[in-house]
Amino acid sequence: MAGVQRIGILTGGGDCPGLNAVIRGVVAGAAQRHGAEVVGILDGWDGLMEGRVRRLDRDAVRGILQRGGTILGTSRRDPYVHGEGAASLHATLTREWIDSLVVVGGDGTLRTAARLANEGIRLVGVPKTIDNDIPGTDVTFGFDTAVQIATEAIDRITTTAESHDRVMLVEVMGRTQGWIATYAGIAAGADAILVPEEPYDLNDVATLLRSRAARGRRYSVVVVAEGIPLPEGAQVVAGRDAFGFERLGGVAAVVAARLEELTGFEARVTVLGHIQRGGTPSAADRVLGSRLGIAAADLAATGRFGRMVALRGTQVVDVALEEACGAMRPVPADILEAAHTLSAP
Ligand code: F6P
Repeated sequence: MAGVQRIGILTGGGDCPGLNAVIRGVVAGAAQRHGAEVVGILDGWDGLMEGRVRRLDRDAVRGILQRGGTILGTSRRDPYVHGEGAASLHATLTREWIDSLVVVGGDGTLRTAARLANEGIRLVGVPKTIDNDIPGTDVTFGFDTAVQIATEAIDRITTTAESHDRVMLVEVMGRTQGWIATYAGIAAGADAILVPEEPYDLNDVATLLRSRAARGRRYSVVVVAEGIPLPEGAQVVAGRDAFGFERLGGVAAVVAARLEELTGFEARVTVLGHIQRGGTPSAADRVLGSRLGIAAADLAATGRFGRMVALRGTQVVDVALEEACGAMRPVPADILEAAHTLSAP
């Protein structure tokens, strides 16, 4: 093995359109720019703890660019919670001759990666989430696709809302920030957008719906981020997954019932759920994922560990992995303001 560098890559946390573009970018960058080999680690940290890997050469990543999800699989198993941290990874890293790791993940996975890097694991990060809320980068791949899917769904819901003179609530993903709600809401011309960044008053929403009805628009579309708290203050939790991760969902149904009470208008709810995460990535996400993958291969092959690739403006740069561990990145006030201006009755 001596002489040929080996880069391992894993994808962790919820999947996201564009992950396969990153994997392909890492393989291409490693081979073309550094003469390095790539080893794919299966099912996130799980595969690294259990020694489940597969060799990724150019043939192995052919035809994956347009595929949603991740060819490597993913999980939320964490080596600090379900193992002994860095010590749980050494056996696989040594056995597979892995010199460095590319870790593609959201806030949880990157937090774990930063901790492992401080313990001496030679790794670099790639930020990933459809929620677009990871600090340190201007945008995450997957977000563009999710917004496109949500916009198409809201467009469809709007025509049936109009036919039936109904209030339609659309619940989209967004745990602590309302990026998808805001962008899809603006793009589809929603009448109200409720996001975790801003407090809301259902009496104001009811007034808006009544005022639209008074002007002859007896239907409305309200976009709700899954993470908005109820007026009483708590988020609506649907349950927990096998790793203890809180599943959000159901807030739009509560909001719909209250708006029906306040206005007397008939309301219906659509929860978009994982439709936003599945399927083929947009062209923009394929390009961004590919660029980040190549940049991550560069960082790993040149020993710039503890760093994360990021997009700043139109440039791919690298920042300290710790930057991804700060407070989640909210939708800027001017974009929220634009949404309000556009949805005024
Ligand atoms: O963090 C990304 C995300 O898509 C959130 O918006 C959502 O709440 C969560 O993942 C859903 O996770 P799961 O696939 O485990 O239900």
